[in-house]
Amino acid sequence: MHIVRRRGWELPEATATPEAVYLSRRAMLKAGAGTLGAIALPGTLVPAALAPTAALAQRVTEVPDPSAHLYPAKRSDTFTLDRPITPEAKSSTVNNYYEFSYGKNVAPSMTRFARRPWVVKVDGLVEKPFEIGIDDLLARFPLEERLYRHRCVEAWSMAVPWTGFPMKAFVDYAKPLSGAKFVRMETFLDPKVAPNQRDFRYPWPYVEGLTMAEATNELAFLVTGVYGKPAPAQFGAPLRIALPWKYGFKSIKGIVRFSFTDKQPVGYWEEVQGSEYGFWANVNPKVPHPRWSQASEEDIATGERRPTLLYNGYGEQVAGLYKGLEDARIWF
Ligand code: MTE
Repeated sequence: MHIVRRRGWELPEATATPEAVYLSRRAMLKAGAGTLGAIALPGTLVPAALAPTAALAQRVTEVPDPSAHLYPAKRSDTFTLDRPITPEAKSSTVNNYYEFSYGKNVAPSMTRFARRPWVVKVDGLVEKPFEIGIDDLLARFPLEERLYRHRCVEAWSMAVPWTGFPMKAFVDYAKPLSGAKFVRMETFLDPKVAPNQRDFRYPWPYVEGLTMAEATNELAFLVTGVYGKPAPAQFGAPLRIALPWKYGFKSIKGIVRFSFTDKQPVGYWEEVQGSEYGFWANVNPKVPHPRWSQASEEDIATGERRPTLLYNGYGEQVAGLYKGLEDARIWF
């Protein structure tokens, strides 16, 4: 049997989940029972024609970002840090964006990715479904900069100056109906641009979801920029979310669709491995991941270990959201 290559946070092979469990229901259906034994390692699935070339890289990066004049935005006084901002040289080379790479240095695999044109769809339980281009969205919502802690489920952390606008403002603009209980967010799907989306073992596109109360919490932040400029591609440009009280996998990148719904969305990781990655994913030092401790975290810039904070230190803003949910599996 082939061994599925491990994600960054996965443990040595001896403790790795058996392939049969690792594969999602959807991926298994797509693969068909007879093809499972023929699964190849992810790298081998990328056709030579899709391999990045220097000429292409130049073409994509040469396109000027039409929103560059909106940056830097004013820094908010409300969201401050207890640690230094992680240098961009570090945070821009330690990323998770599995559509492009199963490793951490994602940017070199993004040469086919373009931030424009970019259209965002709003549908489901809303007064009227609509589509809006990213630059019209940027014109509608004033930008601000917020300093947020960012904690990955892999037990590493960084501190990032995100630029964007509150998700609440966007939700108000979308005009959800009273029956909407959740918002489901979806990443673009284009295997010509994102080579790993050809990897049929995974349930593309990447999906994440929030309750309406979470989506309208003051911390939920739609991100368009970082370090005082439009976000580089590997950070999830041109539109991602930052949810600093949750493990990083909830902070979906490259968003093209928001669907308001009365059904709890099943996130990408929940579908891949529901016993380890759940809907809520709130940071909690006391609840270990099934395969490792969450008691402390490593700062990716300094290597320093710090105790993990409940809700990543954002309890004041979010603890109230989870009252009455004591029996729910809200920690992962
Ligand atoms: N969004 C998409 N579309 N694809 C991904 O692979 N990875 C998630 C999240 N959003 C991911 C994604 C994970 S696991 C983490 S920790 C954060 O993005 C990483 O964000 P960063 O690279 O800006 O640190």
